[in-house]
Amino acid sequence: MKTIIITVVVFALLMTTSIIMGGNKFNDKEESEYNEKEYKSYSSKNLDVAVVNNANYTEECGSCHFAYQPGLLPEKSWVKIMGDLENHFDENAELDTEMQTELTQYLTQNSADKSNYKRSKRIMRSLGKSDAPLRITKTLYFVRKHDEIPYRIVKENKDIGSFSNCTACHTNAEKGSFNEHEVKIPGYGRWED
Ligand code: HEC
Ligand code: HEC
Repeated sequence: MKTIIITVVVFALLMTTSIIMGGNKFNDKEESEYNEKEYKSYSSKNLDVAVVNNANYTEECGSCHFAYQPGLLPEKSWVKIMGDLENHFDENAELDTEMQTELTQYLTQNSADKSNYKRSKRIMRSLGKSDAPLRITKTLYFVRKHDEIPYRIVKENKDIGSFSNCTACHTNAEKGSFNEHEVKIPGYGRWED
């Protein structure tokens, strides 16, 4: 009788342990897979737009101003901009045909309408289907995000000059991050919403 009870108890203990252990193992596996997925989506979600990864683009389109990421405007806008570089905002930004073709291709293949990045999608959502603004600063999304900043802070400050000068305020713009917590307005300081 005693041995039977002991056997039953031991068996029960073994079963419980194996269920707990097995259960734990299962949970561990699930959790690590889950975390990995979370991490992956977090790190790409963390960026606002895809970073520039074309050296010619940075060189040619980043010499007068910040090399705006392709994901900041729709394809239609880039086609228009690249089609009239001779009259580029009162400047001549003409390129040779080969370079113009390469950079147009780069911009249109990575434009906001083809991007899954957060800000690209929001910029697109703020535009009508046929809208093709020549400026990021003219998109409704941009205007809404910057309408609390008094224009004189921008215009009268020689370190900024214009809203087109993204890098004057966005400390991590080149890394594809426009996070409002990383904004530092020259002569004004950190932006507190
Ligand atoms: C010779 C100088 C020069 C070069 C080179 C140049 N740009 Fe510009 N770009 C300007 C000026 C000036 C403005 C207007 C800036 C302002 O209003 O403060 C401008 C504005 C822009 C804007 C609008 C920014 C806004 O307000 O949202 C875009 C987009 C742009 N440029 C794209 C390009 C691309 C793409 C290239 C390369 C093919 C390029 N630029 C090369 C001078 C240049
Ligand atoms: C004068 C400084 C200044 C300039 C120049 C500027 N920004 Fe901003 N930007 C801000 C501030 C401040 C905010 C946060 C606004 C808020 O939410 O209150 C902001 C917000 C944003 C946001 C939304 C970020 C978020 O976390 O919600 C994006 C995207 C953005 N800016 C893109 C740009 C781009 C692209 C340019 C250049 C074409 C630019 N900005 C130029 C100051 C600036």
